[in-house]
Amino acid sequence: MFGKVALVTGASRGIGAAIADALARAGAHVVLTARDQDALSRQVQVLKSDGLQATAVPADVRDEASVKALLAEIRERCGRLDAAVNNAAGGGRPPAPLGEWTVEDFDGAIAVNLRGVFLCLKYEIELMLETGTGAAIVNMSSTAGEQGVAGLTGYTASKFGVGGLTRVAALDYAAQGIRVNAIAPGPILTDRLAAAGQAAQDGVAATVPLGRIGVPGDVAAAALWLCSDQSSFVTGTVLTVDGGRLAGTPAFKVSG
Ligand SMILES: NC(=O)c1ccc[n+]([C@@H]2O[C@H](COP(=O)([O-])OP(=O)(O)OC[C@H]3O[C@@H](n4cnc5c(N)ncnc54)[C@H](OP(=O)(O)O)[C@@H]3O)[C@@H](O)[C@H]2O)c1
Repeated sequence: MFGKVALVTGASRGIGAAIADALARAGAHVVLTARDQDALSRQVQVLKSDGLQATAVPADVRDEASVKALLAEIRERCGRLDAAVNNAAGGGRPPAPLGEWTVEDFDGAIAVNLRGVFLCLKYEIELMLETGTGAAIVNMSSTAGEQGVAGLTGYTASKFGVGGLTRVAALDYAAQGIRVNAIAPGPILTDRLAAAGQAAQDGVAATVPLGRIGVPGDVAAAALWLCSDQSSFVTGTVLTVDGGRLAGTPAFKVSG
């Protein structure tokens, strides 16, 4: 990734911060974005103190003007964009049956997780096409984008949509050398699972065939591969990083 410019959304913490770190250690100049400018600046300082190239540009991915301004700033500062990881997500509410989701709850999840990915793709691809040297995009889906999850109406619908956006964008821009893939992580230890406590984490780990919850670095390694030339024949795919959870269900226990 030496000499390349990479954008990571939702890079102020969790999986996005780990992806920014992995791309920067691989030699890229990484532009980190999220809404909270202070958190972003702290993350950039961590990278810079290790001698890595990183820049913070705050943006709200739900807002078209904000995403346009983000990409305009990258054009101005860096003149190109070689890789992008559309990882930002949010707008959730506690799990509840579909009928208890309000329209506002639903629209909130769709706005950040789906419209946000659409807006980022639209303006990232515009800048990538300007240099015309090929590029790679990774959209962050979830195992909830491959399999329904009870209680998570808005999140599940938005992540299934991310898979659709990924496949269409991959087809639309393959001829121009822009590869578009997605990652579907299973349970990963970031703030939400950390806050749930050890007992809850143990319960989740017990549902994972590999016997543990993932760490942000597990997803970052996959994102780095999909952004790099190592995956140059891979586009339009959703790569599951879930410890085997989506592979199937455990065998029935039958006696005799
Ligand atoms: N952790 C898991 O178990 C898991 C499992 C499957 C999939 N995923 C997916 O992996 C990704 C990262 O998850 P995570 O657990 O690391 O999330 P997280 O800790 O909640 O971090 C979310 C990041 O997105 C940013 N963000 C939220 N709303 C935004 C907006 N409107 N505009 C710009 N940035 C915004 C946040 O910063 P600000 O609040 O400052 O904007 C933060 O940097 C998400 O797409 C998530 O759906 C996670």
